[in-house]
Amino acid sequence: MPEQVPRLLAVFLTASVALVIARSLLVPDTFGDIGHYRAAATDSVVAHQKKYAGHQECALCHGQIQEMRLAGNHRGVRCEVCHGPAANHVSNPLEVKPPAPQDREFCTLCHEYNASRPTGFPQIDPADHNPHVPCIACHEPHAPEPPGMPGDCSACHGQIARQKAVSHHSAVPCTTCHQTPDEHKVNPRSVRPSKPTERDFCGACHAQERLAGIPQIDLTAHNPAYLCWQCHYPHYPGTS
Ligand code: HEC
Ligand code: HEC
Ligand code: HEC
Ligand code: HEC
Ligand code: HEC
Ligand code: HEC
Ligand code: HEC
Ligand code: HEC
Repeated sequence: MPEQVPRLLAVFLTASVALVIARSLLVPDTFGDIGHYRAAATDSVVAHQKKYAGHQECALCHGQIQEMRLAGNHRGVRCEVCHGPAANHVSNPLEVKPPAPQDREFCTLCHEYNASRPTGFPQIDPADHNPHVPCIACHEPHAPEPPGMPGDCSACHGQIARQKAVSHHSAVPCTTCHQTPDEHKVNPRSVRPSKPTERDFCGACHAQERLAGIPQIDLTAHNPAYLCWQCHYPHYPGTS
């Protein structure tokens, strides 16, 4: 017999004995009772103290706030995200009061400009956006909105409006080219106005001989392979 065989056998034997000892000493008692788990784990998890109550609970006593939240922009942000775990408050509302976050730093956790957030998520630059005033002085935390809803397109699209005002299209109202639901002024990112999609749209005013007094082109001959606004900026159209 080659001499490495008994050596290997010795190693194997030691390892097996070590495994048996380790299994009896280190593996928890209830391991394997219900499959490949420590059965007692469920009991210890159940024994944890409950910290969060869930927003349905809050509605029992703060129904108005819950209603306001579900109807507003924070419908997706639950009570305890802002007020912290409040199970103790639910069982003893007068003694235990959950904190209400008052400072700007709290809101900016979600709203400070950050390129990695989803497009369209409302973001602000805290250094520019009304610095030194608490956010909740202007925004109701339970149903926040940009206050004092501006009615005119120029309130939010100032640059486009200023350009158009001095362009050939000054007399063409924004809404001739963009069908704009009223809701756009309240929820500008989720409710969007239409935008022209075809050459025919511009052709309605500019195609030959349809309307007098408007510069005319021949729709079939005038660069037919491209959309008009690939060459003419619609808010400041020019011919060069
Ligand atoms: C059983 C009724 C009850 C439930 C359920 C309840 N609250 Fe309250 N909550 C109260 C009462 C009562 C007050 C005290 C009102 C007061 O002092 O004017 C209060 C006050 C508060 C305050 C203000 C604390 C302060 O310092 O003024 C916050 C914030 C609050 N609750 C959040 C919550 C949240 C979040 C939940 C859900 C997890 C919740 N509450 C569930 C009864 C309840
Ligand atoms: C986006 C964060 C946020 C969410 C979500 C939120 N709260 Fe608040 N809550 C606040 C802030 C901030 C204040 C302090 C307002 C103040 O001092 O003017 C406050 C104040 C309160 C108060 C004190 C009374 C009042 O109206 O000012 C209660 C009660 C309360 N919240 C309950 C709730 C409940 C219930 C929910 C869920 C339905 C909830 N909050 C969701 C941020 C939040
Ligand atoms: C946990 C993240 C979170 C926190 C904290 C938070 N918000 Fe929001 N906020 C949101 C979400 C989500 C929306 C809805 C975004 C949407 O509709 O696309 C929103 C919407 C808003 C809007 C509406 C903007 C718009 O143009 O529609 C305002 C204003 C706002 N929050 C202010 C606040 C203020 C003030 C605070 C602090 C009291 C705060 N938020 C805290 C997540 C948060
Ligand atoms: C002095 C009042 C005031 C304060 C303070 C204030 N805001 Fe605003 N906020 C506004 C107004 C007005 C608008 C709408 C016009 C605009 O976008 O500038 C707005 C818009 C927003 C929007 C929507 C932006 C978008 O592009 O849709 C968010 C989000 C917001 N604020 C969050 C905050 C947060 C977070 C704070 C605190 C760090 C804060 N605001 C402090 C007045 C205020
Ligand atoms: C409360 C501010 C506000 C007002 C008022 C407003 N808009 Fe907007 N509008 C926005 C915001 C914010 C966006 C999104 C910009 C972005 O995604 O970069 C937008 C986007 C648009 C878009 C682009 C849509 C897209 O899918 O690319 C058009 C077109 C538009 N607005 C037209 C209008 C017209 C026309 C009016 C007036 C009838 C108007 N808006 C009034 C805030 C406003
Ligand atoms: C003559 C038609 C016409 C008029 C008038 C017009 N737009 Fe547009 N607008 C367009 C077209 C076409 C596009 C699409 C451009 C593209 O897809 O590149 C557009 C795009 C936009 C966009 C998307 C962002 C951008 O700059 O491309 C916004 C926002 C917008 N318009 C707002 C306005 C506002 C506000 C007014 C009024 C002040 C206005 N438009 C007037 C034709 C028009
Ligand atoms: C409601 C009618 C109307 C629509 C729709 C319209 N326009 Fe115009 N456009 C005009 C009028 C009116 C003028 C000339 C105003 C003037 O006399 O300066 C003009 C001028 C122009 C000019 C300038 C011509 C020059 O002589 O410099 C260009 C380019 C132009 N439009 C492109 C477009 C494009 C691109 C679209 C589609 C996005 C479009 N227009 C949609 C009415 C319209
Ligand atoms: C490939 C670029 C391009 C495209 C696409 C394009 N144009 Fe032009 N357009 C021009 C140039 C360059 C001129 C000026 C030279 C000329 O008259 O041919 C012009 C001139 C015009 C004029 C002025 C004509 C006059 O007699 O004063 C109007 C109006 C016009 N275009 C509208 C449109 C419309 C509407 C569309 C879409 C159906 C469109 N253009 C597509 C490049 C383009």
